[in-house]
Amino acid sequence: MPVTAVIGSQWGDEGKGKIVDFLAQEMDVVVRFSGGPNAGHTIINDKGEFKLHLVPSGIFNPSCECIIGNGVAVDLDILIAEMNELRSKGVSLEKLKISSRAHLILPQHILLDIAQEQRRGQKEIGTTRRGIGPVFADKAARTGLRVGDLREPDYFREHFLQNYLEKKAILEKVYRQETIWQKFLHRFGARRDELGPAQALLEKYFDIYQKQIFPYICDTEEILWGAIDSEADILLEGAQGTLLDIDFGTYPNVTSSSCNIAGASQGSGIPPSKINRVIGVVKAYTTRVGSKGQPFPTEMQEEEGNTLRELAHEYGATTGRPRRLGWLDLMLLRYAHRINNFTYLALTRLDNLSHLAKIPVCVGYVSKGRLSFNLADVEPIYVELPGWQKPIEGCRDFNDLPPEAKNYVEFIEERIAPINLISTGPRREDRIVR
Ligand code: IMP
Repeated sequence: MPVTAVIGSQWGDEGKGKIVDFLAQEMDVVVRFSGGPNAGHTIINDKGEFKLHLVPSGIFNPSCECIIGNGVAVDLDILIAEMNELRSKGVSLEKLKISSRAHLILPQHILLDIAQEQRRGQKEIGTTRRGIGPVFADKAARTGLRVGDLREPDYFREHFLQNYLEKKAILEKVYRQETIWQKFLHRFGARRDELGPAQALLEKYFDIYQKQIFPYICDTEEILWGAIDSEADILLEGAQGTLLDIDFGTYPNVTSSSCNIAGASQGSGIPPSKINRVIGVVKAYTTRVGSKGQPFPTEMQEEEGNTLRELAHEYGATTGRPRRLGWLDLMLLRYAHRINNFTYLALTRLDNLSHLAKIPVCVGYVSKGRLSFNLADVEPIYVELPGWQKPIEGCRDFNDLPPEAKNYVEFIEERIAPINLISTGPRREDRIVR
């Protein structure tokens, strides 16, 4: 199947990394198309355990082109550290390409993200503090810098300085964060010399970053058009999930890019009509990160949530924060299906529910007032399905699952879309293909 997209159907952390890693074994090209280093995929394979934030998971397939697409926001510090780690564990970066159109997360974006969160106080979004909101704001405001701009030092210097001075003024005058600059610049390694911190930062961009990144920069859409013409197998690797989408997510508690299927086209340059298959990744239950007050209709009672969190190690791959735990919400999954029109679903972490005697699944909502599109006023209606209470970790054949586990799978697919892939453990081979 030439072009396949893998899309998160919940609030991110659905286990897309494992599904992508598995599918990438048979792909010619893998493309990241949205988000940035706010994403974190944990991948376990024969080379070890990896937490990838920017490099596409296809990097483990030596014959696969790996593209960081134009829709991704790139932090060069993080990218270079990731590339160095991969190299040191024997993973080749020969096939890595970075879109010249991808926007750069600049140090000032991170500072602004932190200051904005501090100002929100109790109402904080709970961002990953990676500069995501400010970098995409600059992209829309046409004041950002792109990876390809590193090829034009004069342009880069002029626009970097403009951006730097604007953000410095906002931080000092609006957020009253005069000292945060100095602290941050120190952390960033900028020297306080006669040229000033901005000049020192610029030097870092040109002396260190540009040299290391230069060979990988290219107009990646052209590679993709060529790949489509030759009917290569292309995988569009989603980050975050539909409920974090800037347009269709639970705004304002969302990320700042398009993580649904439309974003896959916009963030790569592949025309929508060329995407042949959309795989929706859904965890067998629901998780959400961010602050406590954000609506989460099917959130579990504290004790149940704590048990599952420890069993399933539900902590953020990027921030290490504990994730909030909830039951599977078919109302939200149906909504995600409407937006993405999944060809089929990949159900992950089914093995994590094996300890439960009964498993509630949300099949509807009672609206306490207006059926709010940010989910604040809804009360879930549950159906309780019987649990299987037997270990299923590593199961590879649907027929080997206990009847209650099969029933759980069939209950979902009868209501939403076929489930063709089931993940039953953390390793690449722990899966059922139907
Ligand atoms: P930001 O993308 O860092 O601006 O964060 C905005 C919201 O999206 C916060 O609630 C984050 O916790 C959430 N978020 C961002 N990336 C991820 C992810 O990869 N998984 C889960 N939540 C995420």
